[in-house]
Formats: sequence, C-alpha cells, structure tokens
Amino acid sequence: MIDVRDAMVVYPGAERPALDGVSLTLSPGESVAMLGANGSGKSTLARLCNALLLPSAGTVSVDGMDTRDAEALWDVRSRVGFVQQNPENQIVGTVAEEDVAFGPENLGVPAGELRRRVDDALEAVGLAGMQRREPHLLSDGQKQRLAIAGALAMRPAYLVLDEPTAMLDGTGRAEVAAVLKTLRDEGVGILHITHQLAEAADADRLVVLSEGRIVYEGTPFGLMGEPEYAGRYGVDLPHMAVLTAELRAKGIDVPAPMLDAESVVEALWR
Ligand SMILES: Nc1ncnc2c1ncn2[C@@H]1O[C@H](COP(=O)(O)OP(=O)(O)O)[C@@H](O)[C@H]1O
Ligand SMILES: [Mg+2]
Repeated sequence: MIDVRDAMVVYPGAERPALDGVSLTLSPGESVAMLGANGSGKSTLARLCNALLLPSAGTVSVDGMDTRDAEALWDVRSRVGFVQQNPENQIVGTVAEEDVAFGPENLGVPAGELRRRVDDALEAVGLAGMQRREPHLLSDGQKQRLAIAGALAMRPAYLVLDEPTAMLDGTGRAEVAAVLKTLRDEGVGILHITHQLAEAADADRLVVLSEGRIVYEGTPFGLMGEPEYAGRYGVDLPHMAVLTAELRAKGIDVPAPMLDAESVVEALWR
C-alpha cells in the first residue's frame, strides 16, 4: 500500500504549503483518480509517492518502507512507476524496445529476463510487435503508452500518472484509459491525475484537491451529481452529467448522473 499520512509540503520561499495535511492510501488493484484546479497540489502529491519529493512533515510509506529511508529508495522507485504529462520528455531510447528496457537494465535485470519484461510491457500497452519502431514515428497516444510500458517493465506494484492524457487527442485518451483499466484488473494500484472527470468515471475512488487539501473523497458519481461543487474546485463535468443536473434542476425526473446520451434519452422517453 502507498500510505500518505498528514503530509505537508512547503516549497522554499512559498507563502503557503503546497500540501497541507493530506492523507491518502492506494492499494494494489485499486484505482484512484485525482482532480483539482491548477496549483492545487496534485503533482506535488504524485511526487511524494515515489520519493521524488519528501514531505516537510507527515509520512509517506510504500509497502511499509518510509520514503525518507535512503536505503529503500531504489525499492520504492521500482515499486512505484511514474508517468508524466508529456510523453516526449520520457523517451530515452532510439527504438521502442530500448526505451522500455532502460529502467530494468539500470536495475541490473539479466538479459533473458529483460527481453521478457520488455516484450510483456509492450504487449500490455498494445504495442506488441513495435520493438524496433522509432519512438518519434509513434502517435502521441502510442508515445504515452510507450512511456507506460517503460514504467511497467520495472514490474511496479503501483503506477502514478500525472495528467498522462493532457496532451493527447480523443483517440489517445481512450487508448491510455483502456490500458489503465486492464492494469488495474491485473492488480496494479493506479493513481491517475486528470483534468477530466469523464476519465475518472471508472475509478474506484475519486479525490479532489484544493489549495493543498483534500476537499472531496468518494465515488466519481457522487461528485458528478454535484455540478456546482465540482465547478468550485475547477473540475470539468462531462457534458451529459451537466445536462442531467440541469434537467433535474428544472424538475425533470432523470436519475443523476448519466454519462451517455442513450441513457438520458431512455430516461426522458419513459
Ligand atoms: N518546485 C516548486 N517550487 C516552488 N513552488 C512550487 C514548486 N512546484 C509547485 N509549486 C507550487 O506548489 C503549489 C502546488 O503545485 P502543483 O503540485 O504543481 O499543483 P498541480 O499539479 O495541482 O497544478 C502551487 O502553488 C505551485 O506554484
Ligand atoms: Mg500538476
């Protein structure tokens, strides 16, 4: 389990803490989506999870290892995969397989095992057969899936993704979403930071950050039924959730929230 407890982060020279007493857990096989306005502390929290950053107060532990323990650093980093917003910044290899091999190779994984891990990771993200493909020839969605494969080749128990779809088009977003769903089902714990509540709809749990504090923790649907509340914290609701909320406000009895046009039509037609 990733266990963030009462974490406080104060950046040097900052007027207020970037994180102010945040507690959050992530278990293997669980998916947690995190939303919040720009500057609310999402990336800061993400960086705490794999010891890229240490809390100023409070604790962060990964499977019982305190991230402040320098001796546990490699273990922590290999258990918590990290994927950033811009896939370009994460590509290190000249061909796909080299890129994916980079992490485990540095861990000293022997050649046979390395081959297996690289092939498995590429397959898991739907890039099987692309071993020799040059990353710059991939689409943005494929590049981001390559970055996810690089993290997976470390065989992490958890994957933290900081707005991984922000630079992708609809197709790329859908591709990444499908990969995350499969990984969750295979037992990886997923912390998915996103701007889109629609992308969070499948998460087991949703957390909203505002000014360094958790202001909502619950089911994605719970938040979708509260458009005003969501808006206050900079969360964009899916169009259909806004529509159903507005219908309800006008006294039209549709169950909220509904995410697809079909079920709205169905409800209105009854
Ligand atoms: N390296 C840094 N040094 C100083 N302040 C930072 C640094 N990184 C982030 N901050 C500040 O911390 C707050 C939270 O930032 P961040 O975690 O990046 O939020 P988010 O990812 O939700 O946009 C913001 O006020 C931001 O300006
Ligand atoms: Mg951020």
